[in-house]
Amino acid sequence: MHFMKQSLFALGLLAAAATAQAGGTAADIRIVIDTAKPGPVINKNIYGQFAEHLGAGIYGGLWVGPDSPIPNTRGWRNDVVGALKAIHVPVVRWPGGCFADEYHWRDGIGPRESRPVKVNTNWGGVEENNAVGTHEFFDLVDQLGAEAYVNGNLGSGTAQEMAEWLEYMTADGKSSLAELRRKNGHEKPFKPAFFGVGNEAWGCGGNMTTQHYTDLYNQYASFLKTPKEDTPQFIASGGHDDDTAWSDYLTAHIHEQWNMHFDGISFHYYTVPTGVWQAKGKATGFGEDQWISTLNNTLRMDTLIRNNVAQMDKHDPKKKLSFNVDEWGTWYDVEPGTNAGFLYQQNSLRDAMVVALNFNIFHAHADRVRMTNIAQMVNVLQAMILTDGNRMILTPTYHAYAMYVPFQDATALPVTIEHNRQYKLGAAGIPEISASAARGADGKIYLALVNTNPHDAAQITIANAKHVGGKLLTADAMDAHNSFDHPQEVKPVPFDAEGSAGQVRIKLPAKAIAVVAVE
Ligand code: AHR
Repeated sequence: MHFMKQSLFALGLLAAAATAQAGGTAADIRIVIDTAKPGPVINKNIYGQFAEHLGAGIYGGLWVGPDSPIPNTRGWRNDVVGALKAIHVPVVRWPGGCFADEYHWRDGIGPRESRPVKVNTNWGGVEENNAVGTHEFFDLVDQLGAEAYVNGNLGSGTAQEMAEWLEYMTADGKSSLAELRRKNGHEKPFKPAFFGVGNEAWGCGGNMTTQHYTDLYNQYASFLKTPKEDTPQFIASGGHDDDTAWSDYLTAHIHEQWNMHFDGISFHYYTVPTGVWQAKGKATGFGEDQWISTLNNTLRMDTLIRNNVAQMDKHDPKKKLSFNVDEWGTWYDVEPGTNAGFLYQQNSLRDAMVVALNFNIFHAHADRVRMTNIAQMVNVLQAMILTDGNRMILTPTYHAYAMYVPFQDATALPVTIEHNRQYKLGAAGIPEISASAARGADGKIYLALVNTNPHDAAQITIANAKHVGGKLLTADAMDAHNSFDHPQEVKPVPFDAEGSAGQVRIKLPAKAIAVVAVE
């Protein structure tokens, strides 16, 4: 794909702009950023990831073992870890997902050759040799420079097992569990930043009612004791999709008492193109009907967060608790010929759009949404990276993450979109432009723009600006994607434009994402 630098394009436009009003043509969509009203900090953990023992999500995709011919550092692939470091992964959730509620941490410590082999009953019924356990996971997050979000087993484990895992990780001094950790090679305590008390308690985590889970949370959490300086944030397993009952009930009935902690709740929502789990839709080779339905279903995230936060606000008006969307992303029919339990899917420009729309929504709720974890990091569902043996490709999703890095720990700024249009197909319609703005940790103002229309470019005026410069991601086809034979089909290109009379006019191509610094 070849895109002329927008600066050249913008120069061409200046003549046309000169004949128009200083405010641009009547048809311009106008972006106004209110720098005088800074909002909440966009927690960098909104850019978090999720790596489950599922398919090639860990084994093969990230972990190859120290004896592999694939270059690695203590078993973790150098190519994949290097690429993930480049997008500043802030936090990784592990070991599941559904796998978490069948995971017994003692299976994953000690000499690897003596660890028990189990069946991964959730995901493909394959062998789980426990080569990746607690020590390996913390080595991964150390290599990434990320924080650890460890998800405990409430569904099939005991309160004692969960408490002992935390003691194993965090105890110092003379505890026998700390001694065992030292014997296994880690002198100093690990530092889990987050600890999940179960996963999807309403489903694979035990098919529980809100009341039953809440009682169990209160019971288990009463025994989750850590040194004060090494206390993770404890996350209760919350609801999904339209169900707000979990956010309501958990916030009302879990109370921090007797040294018990409760810092936030989780929420899961996946974008399914058809909305039907039995026939979700394809990752590539889809029609425009599934382009718009996918983006429309993604935009539901805003309402879902709003509805859940309204429940939380009733019981926690000061917003002490966080709302963590710790599973989200696209979920398609698996690629033909792959194990249905491995959830392997291609990733196209449409996925990058899903990422950008979700980020713009998360930013708008940054006062409550303080962590999200896309499902999943490598080779599973909406992945950053796909691998095939020793080969690796970066997906459009990866590139969207890379473009949004300046928003990590930035301060949200209100942004108004004037004269926005609807992109319509049949009875369906969604806003054409989505926008988000923030003041970055470096002091610069950043603006993210998404054009959901797959046919028409959008003429946009950015108010109070002299110059914009950053990156653009687009492609000719809605399902453009990178493959092992053509790994560079979709990638960001430079995008910049000069302004005049205190504003900058840009033409945002059809089906495109731009992230620019605004001067
Ligand atoms: O991400 C795949 C699965 O989706 C997770 O294991 C589970 O929590 C959810 O249902």
